[in-house]
Order: sequence, then C-alpha cells, then structure tokens
Amino acid sequence: MKKIFLIIPLALVLLVSCDREEFNSDNSIAVVEYPLANIASLKEAPYPIGGALTPNNLKNNAAYKQTVINEMTSMTSENAMKMANISRGRKQYFWDDVDYLVNFGIENKMRVHGHTLIWHNSTPAWITSFVGTKEDWKLIMKEYIQDVVGRYKGKIKSWDVVNEVIDDNGVLRESVWKKNIGEEFIALAFQYAHEADPDAILFYNEYGHEYSAARRLAVYQLAMKLKAENVPINGLGLQMHVPVTRSEADIRYAIFSAAKTGFKIHVSELDVALNPSLNKSFVLTNELLQQQKDVYRYAAKAMMELPVEQQYGITFWGVADPNSFLSSGPDFPAVFDFTYKRKPAYDGLLQGFYKK
Ligand code: XIL
Repeated sequence: MKKIFLIIPLALVLLVSCDREEFNSDNSIAVVEYPLANIASLKEAPYPIGGALTPNNLKNNAAYKQTVINEMTSMTSENAMKMANISRGRKQYFWDDVDYLVNFGIENKMRVHGHTLIWHNSTPAWITSFVGTKEDWKLIMKEYIQDVVGRYKGKIKSWDVVNEVIDDNGVLRESVWKKNIGEEFIALAFQYAHEADPDAILFYNEYGHEYSAARRLAVYQLAMKLKAENVPINGLGLQMHVPVTRSEADIRYAIFSAAKTGFKIHVSELDVALNPSLNKSFVLTNELLQQQKDVYRYAAKAMMELPVEQQYGITFWGVADPNSFLSSGPDFPAVFDFTYKRKPAYDGLLQGFYKK
C-alpha cells in the first residue's frame, strides 16, 4: 500500500513535465521528449520573431519593453498603423504613434512590419461617408497609401497591404473599397504601395487558413490570381489566432497550402487561446500550459520546414499575457506570463526550431 502512494505522485509529475506519451510494442509507456534548439533568446531563432507593439506599453511598462528588446528581432504595430488611427481627414494625419514605434524599432535594430493599410474594420468616418466616383475613390485610396508608405520608405520594410478581404463564405468581402472601386481595389492597393516604396515587401494578411478548407482555397486562388496578373505582392500573412485545441495537422495545412504560392509566409498574429469560449470562471492549469506549448511548437516547426527564403517569421499578437487583446477572456494566450517570465510555450518554440 505504501509503495503505491509513492509511485502515483511520481508518475503524475513525470507525465506533466514530459512532452508526449507513446505506447511501446509491449504496451508499456514510453515518453517522447522533443529536443530544444540551443539558443539564449528568441533573437537567435532561425527566422525573425516579433510582437505587435503599442506605444503606451513601451512608454509605461519597463518589463514589457525589456522583453521586446531581449527577445525580438522584428515588430509590428497592434493598432497605431491602422487607417482609423492615422487618417483624421483627407490629407490629415496623426503620425506621432507611428513615428514612435518606427523609431523604437530602428533604434533596437528590429525589422519593422506595417499593419495594415486597407482593412474593412479600420475606416475613419470621413472615408465611410465619402461620396465620389470610382476614380475619386481610387484617388483617396492612392493618396492615403502613398502618403503612409512614402513617409516610412526604407524604414518600414514590409506592409500588410490588405487585411481580411475574404469573408467566411470564401468570397470577396463587402467593404467600402469593394463597393466603390470593385474587386480591382486589391491589385490597385498593392500597385500604389509598390510605387511609393519599390523595395517594401508586400503582404496580403488573412485569418482562418487553419480551420477552413474553403478559406484556404479562396486565399490560395486570390494569391495566384494576383501573381498571374503581375501584381507586386510578395507574401501571405497568416494571422493564426488559434484555440489550444487546434491540431498539428490543421496548422501544417495552413502553412503549407499558403506556401504553395511560392510567396513569403508570415505567421503574423500568433496567439494560442486557452479559454476560447470566454468562460468567466476559467481556471488556468499546468496541463493547459503544456498543451499550449505543443501548439506553439506546431507553428514554429512547420515554418522551419519551408524553404528559407519563404520563412518571413512569426509575430506574436501582443507580448505577454496581460497585454493580449484576448486577456479579458480571461485568457493567457502568449509566450510570456503576467510577470514577463517565459512560459512552457517558449520551450515549445525552441522545440519547433530544433534541427538535427
Ligand atoms: C485587434 C487589436 O488587437 C485590438 O486592440 C483592436 O481593438 C482590434 O484589432 N486581426 C487583425 C488585427 O488583423 O489587426 C486585430 O487587432 C486582431 C484580428
């Protein structure tokens, strides 16, 4: 009797701290551990790793800022570079927050990615109420894109030119841009951005590749159409806001189907929600943190398997649990915890980076 009491807790500890169980041929249990890439911080990752940042957190939260500086080689903006934040009227702009972020990135030798030029969810009131011909609409879009991209030419290295243009039925989403310009607004947005900074790497950013074959196919077809028309597009952004239950196969489908286009692949908004059903009495457990670690590994590993020139990098949506847009769930979707310590998810990334 005594023996059993000793063995059970030990077995539990082993199970929780190890990666995966598998059955041997004699049905005994073997524990498979994934090796970790031997790097001191995410700055040494095989491809750029970054976060979506806010000026407010950088200015007021020392631990946040230090984590970014210690761990990241690329960055984007969570909200400051969106049209509704920049554009205050025709040819009227609010640049302070964007300037701040771009300067921070450059000072810290980070690659700065711009998110996002054209998004149906970020149109200032003057645009929504604008009345004009198709040519007028093309002109206001061109003015905006070229003023923004032109101002940060050579500083913002890449842009999400359009964001979320496919709807949940796998067809082009209705938006003021589609309504007033027609489907052509997408190719034009890329063309205008390219004219303003011919060296900028231009992305089409989208969500849902990992849970919907219809969305995957629609994105693929749109990307291939743009490519066939010689539109200056270089990459696909896969947002990857995923629940902890997302399977490895789903994440691999998402990344490899997008990579079939030959474009650069950016996992552009990665987070792994532990409480996707927003249960108010949610309790964080060790087991969930271990499962979350697996999901981070799936993404990091699939990216590793792409040709190097297609590995644009992984960007976390936020930096640590308290500043994720999901944190009020409550949720804990990030790689760093409330005290900015590395979570098991961090080791999941290191496992994904491991190469024999
Ligand atoms: C979100 C931000 O995180 C929130 O702070 C904001 O209120 C709304 O936008 N897909 C995107 C991002 O492309 O821009 C969104 O960011 C999250 C979903």
